[in-house]
Amino acid sequence: SAAEKGGHEYFMLKEIAEQPQAIADTLLGRLTDSGEIMLDEVRLSDQDLRDVDKVFIVACGTAYHSGLVAKYAIEHWTRIPCEVELASEFRYRDPVLDRSTLVVAISQSGETMDTLMALRHAKAQKARVLAICNTNGSTIPRESDAVLYTHGGPEIAVASTKAFLTQLVACYLIGLHLAQVRGNLYADEAGAIVEQLLKVPDKIRELLAGIDPVRQLARDLKAAPTVLFIGRHVGYPVALEGALKLKELAYMHAEGFAAGELKHGPIALIDQGTPVVCVVPSPAGRGMLHDKIVSNIQEVRARGARTIVIAEEGDTAVLPYADHVIYVPRTPTLLAPLMTTIPLQVFACEIAAARGHDVDQPRNLAKSVTVE
Ligand code: G6P
Repeated sequence: SAAEKGGHEYFMLKEIAEQPQAIADTLLGRLTDSGEIMLDEVRLSDQDLRDVDKVFIVACGTAYHSGLVAKYAIEHWTRIPCEVELASEFRYRDPVLDRSTLVVAISQSGETMDTLMALRHAKAQKARVLAICNTNGSTIPRESDAVLYTHGGPEIAVASTKAFLTQLVACYLIGLHLAQVRGNLYADEAGAIVEQLLKVPDKIRELLAGIDPVRQLARDLKAAPTVLFIGRHVGYPVALEGALKLKELAYMHAEGFAAGELKHGPIALIDQGTPVVCVVPSPAGRGMLHDKIVSNIQEVRARGARTIVIAEEGDTAVLPYADHVIYVPRTPTLLAPLMTTIPLQVFACEIAAARGHDVDQPRNLAKSVTVE
């Protein structure tokens, strides 16, 4: 009913709107006054965490994309090698695991069979397992050594939105916690990141308040035969997530690419008018990342693409190559997916609605897949 949807047309729109609160709830009670991070139901000692020499993140679908983002943060902060793998692949390829491996299983429902089987396999090999989950008391957290609940509240729409953002926040907290326990990050550095995380809910409110142009753009593009998404660094998993949302909801062909990989093949797909959504990192970030993607945008545009650029407020360098610009509030590079994902959620939701599809219950999909 309309009341259940809190005045929104779809559960998905309600859940997109709930993201600021959901993130605040993920953060709530997790931080001590000295900026240390507390996990729930931890049956892992600090010594266990200090012994970790490798992290594997296993998950499916949207949760897998949150793991891809987490890798950048975890490796950067902790200096522990971190691999991310689809749970269904991990389980069947004989991964190298032992007592000093930390396997992080990410699952909104806590019941996804592929992820559960990956977790059981990891435990059988003596790895430690930490779950990131939105559903209290579900199977995956019950079988894990430690749990960080996202506390995002129930997610009804099949396409995941607030669960994804809260998974990202949980991953950041785990990265910070590991780094602190192991002495890789000083309290003041961790404190500065936490301070930025605490500002995220308000920034998302600001972003959502100005989201209408994205809806208009989505309606204009509803008949496109394909939509491509490109990004670099943490913008790459965001591009994958943007493409997944469009496939799930609008039943359109969509693909996400690492922008640097375009020239090695995918650029051949670009035709006159092909929409290309470009996820641009902050110009303030280190390492020339921003310049590199600006030239990637230039390349696709020169081949006829219609470019839709998601960039940080104040980034004027993208303007000459952008057919459409969507600005998001400023935030440190590693946290940027908490901003840049949102226009892509709204974009997919609106195209699906414009094409007459059931946004909350897409065909052939289930909210939780309990078969392998
Ligand atoms: C299903 C859903 C996806 C979800 C995936 C993983 O395929 O349709 O939206 O991302 O399962 O679900 P989980 O509950 O493990 O996060």
